[in-house]
This record gives sequence, structure tokens and C-alpha cells, in this order.
Amino acid sequence: MKIAVLASGSGTNLQALIDQLHQDETSGVEIAVVISDRRKAYALTRAKKAGIPTYVVRVRNFPDRDAFDAEISKILDRCEVELIILAGFMKLFQPAFVRKYRNRIINIHPSLLPAFPGAHPVPDTLAYGVKVSGVTVFFVDEGIDAGPIIAQVSVPVFDDDDEESLLKRIHIEEHKLYPQVIRRYAAGMLEIVGRKVLVKES
Ligand code: GAR
Repeated sequence: MKIAVLASGSGTNLQALIDQLHQDETSGVEIAVVISDRRKAYALTRAKKAGIPTYVVRVRNFPDRDAFDAEISKILDRCEVELIILAGFMKLFQPAFVRKYRNRIINIHPSLLPAFPGAHPVPDTLAYGVKVSGVTVFFVDEGIDAGPIIAQVSVPVFDDDDEESLLKRIHIEEHKLYPQVIRRYAAGMLEIVGRKVLVKES
């Protein structure tokens, strides 16, 4: 299955997908393209090192967000992508894009949704004082971090945690969970029933 990975930042999740899926022929998953909205995203360097084609699509180069989405859509369709993976991609798509790729866009978020959605989940988690946080992988819908949840794992929050220490623990879980979920999707094991995502054993 050809997938696209969209990333705005350092790309540690992309690296996990390269190592555990793209470079494992038994996974049935090929990262056909990596797209970033930031020219300097280290994710682009990781992709190039793995020989994966990259594109930079910047919001400022388009008259509006529909035009930005359309450019990304053009690349995805040209690369015959079947599944879109957001890995630290910090732009929201317009509803028309979500409708076009309904149930074919997956995102990862560093909290146990629906707690702490949005752009600052880790500082929000620490500020609130919760004892347990985690990772959520979900299908993207028209809402913000609101679509059907595919998988979650918990991560403890310690009294002396700061953003760096908590994020480090969260990343360890993300790098295991994301490849596992995508492998299952590619194997046809995920079934969406309303808001629930069921995992069928193959
Ligand atoms: C990840 O922790 C991911 O959960 C988060 O961005 C980080 C990207 O790290 N995504 C969101 O907050 C989405 N709302 P990476 O670039 O090292 O993979």
C-alpha cells in the first residue's frame, strides 16, 4: 500500500515509519512521498536519506487554504497514495479535503483524546496536573483532533516532569504505536463502525 507522510517538524515518527514499515518488505507499506509545509523541517532530510521523494508546500504561496489543500491533493493523487499519515503536520485541512479522503487520513496526537486537543497538548497536560497522559491515533474528520479513535496507550506523568521529559516518554510510545496501527490498516484489519474502530484479527 502506498502511503504519504505529512510532517512539519523533526520527523521522529516519520523515522519510525521508515525503519519499521518502509524498510521492511513484509509490511506491505511503501512511503511513496513525504510532504512538508516547512522548508527546513528535518523530516525532509530523513526522507531524502531513505530515498523517498519530498515536496514542500507552503501556505504563503497560495491565495487561500483551499488552494493549499488542492496542491497537496494533486501530489497525493499523482503519487497514487491510498493512505495519508499526519506525523506532526501542524496545518488543518479544509472540510472538502477531509471529505475527499474520508477514512483515509490518520493522525497521531500526544495526549489521551478527547483530553488536551489542539496545538499545545503537552504544556496543557502539565498545566492541568493530570497523572496519566498518553498517545492517540485517530482518523481525521472535520473537527480538531476529534475523529474516530483507532488506538491509545497511556503514559504516566511524574511530579517532576517538564515538557522535554514527558515528550520523551510519549515519543517512545508513539514510535511503537504508529507503525503498528498503519500495518494493521494496510492489512485490512480496521473497520469503522460509527465512532468506533474495530480491529479484526486476520
Ligand atoms: C508528535 O509528538 C505528534 O504526536 C505531535 O507532533 C509531534 C511530532 O514529532 N502531533 C500533534 O501534536 C498533532 N496535533 P515528530 O516530528 O518528531 O514526529
